[in-house]
Amino acid sequence: MISALLTVLSISSIVFARPATEAAKRCTGTISSLDDVSDAVKCTTVNINAFTVTAGSTFNLDLMDGTTVNLNGNVAFGNKTWAGPLFEISGDSITFNGNGHTFDGGGPFYWDGQGSNGGVEKPRPMMKIKISGTFENTKIVNSPAQTFSVSNPGPLTITGITIDNSQGDLPNSQSDGLPAGHNTDGFDVSTTDLVIENSSVKNQDDCLAINKGSNIVFQGNTCSGGHGISVGSISSDVTVSGIIIADNTVINNQQALRIKMDSTATGSTVTNITYSGNVGTGLTEFGILIDQSYPDTLKTPGTGVILSDVSFTGATNTLSVESSATPIAINCGKGACTGTWEWTSLKTSGGEANFFFNPPTINGIST
Ligand SMILES: *[C@@H]1O[C@H](CO)[C@@H](O)[C@H](O)[C@H]1NC(C)=O
Ligand SMILES: *[C@@H]1O[C@H](CO)[C@@H](O)[C@H](O)[C@H]1NC(C)=O
Ligand SMILES: *[C@@H]1O[C@H](CO)[C@@H](O)[C@H](O)[C@H]1NC(C)=O
Repeated sequence: MISALLTVLSISSIVFARPATEAAKRCTGTISSLDDVSDAVKCTTVNINAFTVTAGSTFNLDLMDGTTVNLNGNVAFGNKTWAGPLFEISGDSITFNGNGHTFDGGGPFYWDGQGSNGGVEKPRPMMKIKISGTFENTKIVNSPAQTFSVSNPGPLTITGITIDNSQGDLPNSQSDGLPAGHNTDGFDVSTTDLVIENSSVKNQDDCLAINKGSNIVFQGNTCSGGHGISVGSISSDVTVSGIIIADNTVINNQQALRIKMDSTATGSTVTNITYSGNVGTGLTEFGILIDQSYPDTLKTPGTGVILSDVSFTGATNTLSVESSATPIAINCGKGACTGTWEWTSLKTSGGEANFFFNPPTINGIST
């Protein structure tokens, strides 16, 4: 009887034993320089004060599961030509509260109109997000090139983010008359179970680019000045499925909504992409561009990406294009855009004639 009780007690003491790191979890870590990071991440509350990150180093938060991070001041990154990233965060069930504070990437130091295609080496992405949980209420200004790269290990909601690279719209002394900012993508995403909402992106490239993944929702966001909301570019051997693009406002972009597939891609599948309630105005090249000839535009399409079930359903999507733009362009390899697509919730206005090459059967518009 007593020995049975002791056994129960010892089993329960084993079950409830806490590893040494567990005790540290109740602390609050404070970061005011990179020197503070390694101690602070042993705590499950981490407060970040305003500071400047040493040039050439990544501000890397490798967090314990369940950590809450509070940004309590603005963070700037020292200027240096190097590969980056500038900021990286990883962990499961993380709550990141930006409290409206800013990460400043120092873009004007790097911008030369060439982005990641050449010229000065630019630290990129600026923000590498590898958490599940939430990342919210944070402002990002002047990213050297691509802004967010997201590869969450579990469900993640990103909300209330402001990305403002609008300073890069103007040429500078290095950019040969071109906008100084280039390849300043808002969110580059290769992942599953991600929601990005209630955010705003002012930039010179894609607002969102989904390169692969599934169960991704992009809703209630505003995109200004860039290349619109993209699925792609799609390369070889990738799958994209279950994407919802809803209630976004796209202003003064080259196009509002795009699916771009590499002409040379093989073995890829893109399916179940749903657009509802999106509004686009001041679109300079296309309203909707679905193109299997990327990186060319409306040239010879490939047949290695099978695209199906692209729908405009639910709340009406309203796209208004500039006079020399094309409201709808669909350029598919023979047999590569398949099935019947429901486009009953789409209104386009302005521009020239639509463009169709090998379109699938589409209900709601005449091809
Ligand atoms: C980096 O350079 C840019 C452009 O000159 C400047 O706006 C920014 O403040 C600089 N960052 C730091 C941390 O000095
Ligand atoms: C995003 O905005 C919508 C509409 O204002 C609101 O219902 C929703 O709760 C917001 N999402 C988050 C995560 O704050
Ligand atoms: C399409 O994607 C949505 C959103 O992820 C999902 O709810 C739905 O089940 C998918 N439909 C099919 C036919 O897979």
